[in-house]
Amino acid sequence: MQDKDSWSGRFSEPVAELVKRYTASAGFDHKLAMFDIQGSRAHAQMLAACDIISRQDLSEIQRGLAQIENEIIAGNFVWSLELEDVHLNIEKRLTALVGDAGKRLHTGRSRNDQVATDVRLYLRSAIDELAVLLKNVQGALLDLASLHTNTIMPGFTHLQVAQPITFAHHLMAYFEMLKRDADRLQDCRKRVNRLPLGAAALAGTSYPVKREYVAELLGFDSVCENSLDAVSDRDFAIEFTACAALIMTHLSRFSEELILWMNPRFGFIDIADRFCTGSSIMPQKKNPDVPELVRGKTGRVNGHLVALLTLMKGQPLAYNKDNQEDKEPLFDTVETLVQTLSIYADMITGIKANPEAMRNAAMQGYATATDMADYLVKKGVPFRDAHEAVALAVRFAEQRGCDLSDLGLAELRQFSLLIEEDVYQVLTLEGSIASRNHTGATSPQQVAAAIARARTSISE
Ligand code: ARG
Repeated sequence: MQDKDSWSGRFSEPVAELVKRYTASAGFDHKLAMFDIQGSRAHAQMLAACDIISRQDLSEIQRGLAQIENEIIAGNFVWSLELEDVHLNIEKRLTALVGDAGKRLHTGRSRNDQVATDVRLYLRSAIDELAVLLKNVQGALLDLASLHTNTIMPGFTHLQVAQPITFAHHLMAYFEMLKRDADRLQDCRKRVNRLPLGAAALAGTSYPVKREYVAELLGFDSVCENSLDAVSDRDFAIEFTACAALIMTHLSRFSEELILWMNPRFGFIDIADRFCTGSSIMPQKKNPDVPELVRGKTGRVNGHLVALLTLMKGQPLAYNKDNQEDKEPLFDTVETLVQTLSIYADMITGIKANPEAMRNAAMQGYATATDMADYLVKKGVPFRDAHEAVALAVRFAEQRGCDLSDLGLAELRQFSLLIEEDVYQVLTLEGSIASRNHTGATSPQQVAAAIARARTSISE
């Protein structure tokens, strides 16, 4: 005999096969199984504490759930699309194992508040895992940066040589981005960590439940205040995905730079072979596949964000089946992020910088032109006039095919008689970076201090 649907009493014919497959989520939401069991344990414990079910029922439920948990861990649990979703699969098995007690578990609960609880538990645990992985990437950045506080490279704007900076300073920019990302995740966690259970289908339940007790058992900070909101909104998942999209976006920018820097025309870095692949036709190739894929997967996570926003935008209160579609984008976002952060920390550790190539690049493109203008300003020339004088000097040097520092004093004095021998100090790369010596700037001293502060911030 075919299994009866859980609501079969109301229906005069069975659900069509195609519809069953279309509406089932067991194929993917079984990822929530452990959180579903965790939620059910707490719910049952509360039901017993409030005398809604008996102690005997509670211990039967606990025994059954423990066995189901073992079956899932051992890979013996059979997921059936016939049973629609993770919740009904587990409930059915529980009833098979412990009889009527299993049928009492769903008292005062609906799959609507159940699934919202499961997703929140899942996401909370994902956020905690991601927080550690983010820190690892930050730690790897710090390790690399501390080797390069004196390594000079060109800083770019518009991808044109702008001013000299240190490689460590450049790396620390990404540290800052990831620090904000970590803060954002923690802030999002506060809104994830609230309990929907007790909202039941939408209006609450007529049983004398104690929601605060369930919240405490599950480690939630508090309960959702409105039952309609509790079962229907997925803003916490959208917010998480937005945080994830920003993390990916930051790593995508970094990846783009790694790819450029690895190109022999830059030659600034080398990425360890284990993160690269060769070409099946061109023997000379070493391709930066990992950063390229990170850049590519950013599109996928951004897509998930848009999917979730779109999923929510037209829904009337309260729960609608649309929400079942929140899971795959959310799971994929978490998995993409976990993999990306794990691989990234390791990849950064395998980056080898080439300070000579960086320095050579900084020597080209008149990176110290601003320093020369500042030099004139300090001698009393208004900044706009100094800018103009140096622009003419750059044009002159360009025609001669040399750097500003290669021009003789007499040549430089054509552009301002205030220029003296000491100008050569500011025209050197070292002089330029050393002079930018305040909080947030690129001097080796400041960057070393920034690295030290950063280390404390991630060890807290
Ligand atoms: N599988 C459903 C989901 O993911 C569970 C809730 C179903 N609720 C309902 N009333 N059909 O959203």
